[in-house]
Parts: sequence; structure tokens; C-alpha cells
Amino acid sequence: MADTKILGICGSLRRTSLNMAALRAAAANAPDGVELQIADITSVPLYDNDVYERGFPPAVDTLRDQIRDADALLFATPEYNYSFSGVLKNAIDWVSRPPDHPFTGKAVGMLGCSAGTSGTMRAQYHLRQVMVFLDMRPVNKPELFLPAAGNLFDDNGDLTDDVTGERLNQLLNSLATWSKKIA
Ligand SMILES: Cc1cc2nc3c(=O)[nH]c(=O)nc-3n(C[C@H](O)[C@H](O)[C@H](O)COP(=O)(O)O)c2cc1C
Repeated sequence: MADTKILGICGSLRRTSLNMAALRAAAANAPDGVELQIADITSVPLYDNDVYERGFPPAVDTLRDQIRDADALLFATPEYNYSFSGVLKNAIDWVSRPPDHPFTGKAVGMLGCSAGTSGTMRAQYHLRQVMVFLDMRPVNKPELFLPAAGNLFDDNGDLTDDVTGERLNQLLNSLATWSKKIA
């Protein structure tokens, strides 16, 4: 039985997403006592306030429940045009709607893989800005920017780089410690 349950949320829907591969690698490199499950947000529709007024769609209800039940969240996002992805923003927007959005006070970590050299730095700093408004509690360090991430995984999306495995372990460790501290 894990003492810390972390929910991973990926901002890319691509089958061979590097960010999803990194989340899977994080789960595989989790410290003892930490369990990382990955949310499936593929069925979250585009945000529409008319739909919201009729009630949360099932995929959003599920995601809100999963977030509420988790001790901490781990976002993995690509950088799209110097920001985090619309897929992730859309999911956050849905979850943020009243009543009682489950982001409040939640411990959150983040990481990002880019194919190029940026490592998603700009995307992650935009994401931190959104977290301020939603009253999330992001862990400050370690920051995990993974540039040229195509070199870190094999053709099956399995991590081949031990240093990255260790960095993922450190991030989850820091996030688990932080979530306990602010609980
Ligand atoms: C619409 C779009 C915009 C992008 N903009 C950036 C960018 O600003 N910076 C960057 O480093 N990569 C950018 N990329 C490349 C992504 O980093 C790359 O596609 C990455 O592999 C996406 O993550 P994924 O593998 O998890 O899907 C962009 C890709 C797309 C599709």
C-alpha cells in the first residue's frame, strides 16, 4: 500500500508522446511508498460553458474525482508555441470550474520533454502562473526540463537513460515529501 498517491496528467495525446513516455518512466522509477497512476484525458471534450451549465461530462467528473483522491499531481507537458499545450489547459479549465475545484492546496510537480533544445522551460513557467490562480502548491525543485528527449527513450517509449531515471525519482521524492509537509 502506497503512502503517497500521485496522479500524472499528460498534455500530449500523441500515441508516441515523449511526455507520456516520461510519465510512464516516472511511475517505473517511483521511490518506495510512492505510486504514480496516469490519468486518461483523451475523452475530455473542448471546454464549452453551455455544456458545463448542463453538468460536467463523464470524463471531466472522473478526472476531478481522481485529482481529489490523489495526494499530489504530476503534470507532464510539451511546449507549444512557447507555452504549455492546449490539451492540458483545456483539461485544467474544465477541472477548475465550480463547485469546489480539487486543485486548491494540491501539491503539484511538473516535467516536460521537448524534441528540440528548450526542454519546455517557457511552458513550465506559464503553467506555474496558472497554478497561482488555482491555488495549487507547486514543488519548486528539482525542475525537470528534458531537451532532445527523443534520445532518452527507445522505439517502445521505454527510458534508456539512467540519469533521467534518477532525476525522475528525485522529483517524485521531493513531491511526496512536499505533499506530506503541506497536508
Ligand atoms: C503546435 C506545436 C508547437 C510547438 N512549439 C514548440 C515550442 O514552442 N518549443 C519547443 O521546444 N517545441 C515545440 N514544439 C515541438 C514539441 O516540443 C514536440 O512536438 C514534442 O515532441 C511534443 O511532445 P510529445 O512528444 O509529448 O507529444 C511544438 C510542436 C507543436 C505540434
